[in-house]
Amino acid sequence: MQFGHFDDAAREYVITTPHTPYPWINYLGSEQFFSLLSHQAGGYSFYRDAKMRRLTRYRYNNVPTDAGGRYLYVNDGGDVWTPSWLPVKADLDHFETRHGLGYSTITGERGGLRVETTFLVPLGENAEVQKVVVTNVSDAPKSVKLFSYLEFCLWNASDDQTNYQRNLSIGEVEVEEATPSGGSAIYHRTEYRERRNHYAVAGVNEPGVGFDTDRDTFLGGPYASLAEAAVPRAGVAQNSVASGWYPIASHAHELELAPGESHALVYVLGYEENQDEEKWADDAHQVINKSGAHALLARFATPAHVDAALERLREYWADLLSSYSVTSTDPKLDRMVNVWNQYQCMVTFNMSRSASFFETGIGRGMGFRDSNQDLLGFVHLVPERARERIIDIASTQLPDGSAYHQYQPLTKRGNDDVGSGFNDDPLWLIAGVAGYVKETGDVGILDEPVPFDNSPGSEVPLWEHLVRSLTFTRTHLGPHGLPLIGRADWNDCLNLNAFSTQPGESFQTTENRTDGQAESTFIAAQLVLYGEEFAGLAQLRGLDDVAADARSFVADMRQTLLTAGWDGEWFLRAYDYFGNPVGTDASPEGKIWIEPQGFAVMAGVGVEVGDDGVSTATSPAVRALDSVAEHLGTPHGLVLQHPAYTTYQVELGEVSTYPPGYKENGGIFCHNNPWVIIAETVVGRGDLAFDHYRRIAPAYREEISEVHKLEPYVYAQMIAGKEASRAGEAKNSWLTGTAAWNFVAVSQHLLGVRPGFDGLVVDPQIGPDVPSFTVRRVLRGATYEIEVTNSGRRGSRAALVVDGVAIEGRSVPYAPAGTTVRITATL
Ligand code: GLC
Ligand code: GLC
Repeated sequence: MQFGHFDDAAREYVITTPHTPYPWINYLGSEQFFSLLSHQAGGYSFYRDAKMRRLTRYRYNNVPTDAGGRYLYVNDGGDVWTPSWLPVKADLDHFETRHGLGYSTITGERGGLRVETTFLVPLGENAEVQKVVVTNVSDAPKSVKLFSYLEFCLWNASDDQTNYQRNLSIGEVEVEEATPSGGSAIYHRTEYRERRNHYAVAGVNEPGVGFDTDRDTFLGGPYASLAEAAVPRAGVAQNSVASGWYPIASHAHELELAPGESHALVYVLGYEENQDEEKWADDAHQVINKSGAHALLARFATPAHVDAALERLREYWADLLSSYSVTSTDPKLDRMVNVWNQYQCMVTFNMSRSASFFETGIGRGMGFRDSNQDLLGFVHLVPERARERIIDIASTQLPDGSAYHQYQPLTKRGNDDVGSGFNDDPLWLIAGVAGYVKETGDVGILDEPVPFDNSPGSEVPLWEHLVRSLTFTRTHLGPHGLPLIGRADWNDCLNLNAFSTQPGESFQTTENRTDGQAESTFIAAQLVLYGEEFAGLAQLRGLDDVAADARSFVADMRQTLLTAGWDGEWFLRAYDYFGNPVGTDASPEGKIWIEPQGFAVMAGVGVEVGDDGVSTATSPAVRALDSVAEHLGTPHGLVLQHPAYTTYQVELGEVSTYPPGYKENGGIFCHNNPWVIIAETVVGRGDLAFDHYRRIAPAYREEISEVHKLEPYVYAQMIAGKEASRAGEAKNSWLTGTAAWNFVAVSQHLLGVRPGFDGLVVDPQIGPDVPSFTVRRVLRGATYEIEVTNSGRRGSRAALVVDGVAIEGRSVPYAPAGTTVRITATL
């Protein structure tokens, strides 16, 4: 069942009913000011930091869900409704939400009145702007009353939800019924009297007939819900001024509309800061200096201003997405690659893991491993910002090459609460830097001085950070010659040294046994893949000896994986604290785990190619992948391990805390499915790779939206696995490493266009279902037009003709900036 459809030409997802199985959201903003916006106008806004500078309230985990947003109440001759359906929930004759790139439009129609609201955060502005167009579509004149509504958050979102003994006394607003640009404005100024230099403004471009800023007055007392709001029902604003309790902003307007007539209003929610000496407009320090807000409101004084800002935003996105695009015979593939997967990568870049409908914006910092992997998905979109991100991340690395697991985006410092000890972390830095250098050719970044642990004076070239990353892993090996796992590897929940028995204790931070010798085959596979990347970078620096040394170590690790790391039909997952194998056929549960199968084969471990170009069925790589399909395959994607644990295993940790089929315990963790997709392309089975791809890609799941439940245009972190009673149901959409890895899998391996150290590699492996396609790739200033004719036969590899000349191999030398290169690939 679908609840909408893609509009590919407009790059929008069109939701045609309010009754989706969960709120389906969009993100507005790409610089400093951000809003989360559900299809029914729920969500909230913040400036830079979702915890410290929250502008509006949202009530997570509420009943009903999606509580809190920016609403517009309509009173049409006594009939009260909200065009976003929520909060009044009056039936609508027509409903539509269009989520576009950085903007959304919500339209509701009832009783011959149509209200269409376009929401955006304009480029260069710290504000959410709404253009509301009210149209009388009936054949009689109408008198319509409008009441806007939003509730302010008292800045610190965590304190706002907990510290009521203080907070219910401190709320303050100022009201300006006539602004210089001809409208009205309400200013939220809680704590401005003391140490805050910032305020929020909720303005509208035309003078109203009244306002309200006190929530109880607007709703009609403490027991009324938003659906029952008294002011819209009475049709008369009360001009209430909040004093403590719950400050809100509501502007009231009255419109007389002839049949067919439209009227547009502009609402602005902005964030402004003043310098200390310019805080006040009066000597008594009672009136805020509003010059910043006045300028903002003047910039959006007419609907035409909003239209122009929307146009600029569309151009910005069109430009951003132009560096990789595909035209194929499969519209779902095209819309994932050209629009939605890249869009999600960009949102993940902006948000990290902070604010979604599953992340409250008051939790985690930026993950060291997460940020490096995210980078692989957005480096082609914003290479300069990727460079800055790399330097930020590397600056938190510790001198021995290990890493803080998280850092705080505002201070850019390592987070002591979580600390270090996740032994996969260091190698992800090599992944991020290699991805960046391949994309940009900016080898100079390796000479950039970067400190350890942000300590001034400790700066060494970025290259030296990579050396320490590798050295850390090489010098932390266990009894089988595999890397020690530490607190965990990629799988945060595989805690082999934790032995936690205290209820509620965090597995990520609990004190670990210090004599632990538990080892990870995942880190071993990671070392093979990124050890090779390290060697490639070393060669770019002319360090052939260093490269050779790294490669020889990598060769040993490949061997170790195939011996100590091999169970018989697949790779083991780990050795636990006691030296017992994890992920072995010999154990009743958790026999086979996805991570090492995908990652090791992706790194080429156990790949043996026969004369026909096909990897042999008896090679460890193919056996591992066949085992994955057999044990982990489901209609909804590959589960993380199987069978899931049915009881708590103290020596394994958090993984066994989840009920079977959820999250890391047998859930379909979409982040690691692309490793298997890429692995299948490595062994030349593009058909299987593309099959795995389609099972989790949201556009292909659109028709089962009633099962999947979450947005059909972005990936979720997890889909419930086969042992869960709700198999196929997704959770945790938007902010997940799934976005980056799936983009890497589809763009670089299925479609097969990927930057290498010295050329653009064209090596598609997508199977017979996509018989032909073209890719346009803009890279290092040059444009590559690639036309692929694809038999889809297993094992066949592309023969390339570059500007009319056949070449050997599959790497096209980089062309000078400004040129266009035409490539045909036949396989
Ligand atoms: C979450 C974390 C990520 C981790 C994954 C598996 O997505 O953000 O760091 O690798 O879970 O546990
Ligand atoms: C829990 C989750 C895991 C996530 C971690 C972040 O362990 O299961 O997915 O990575 O929390 O701290």
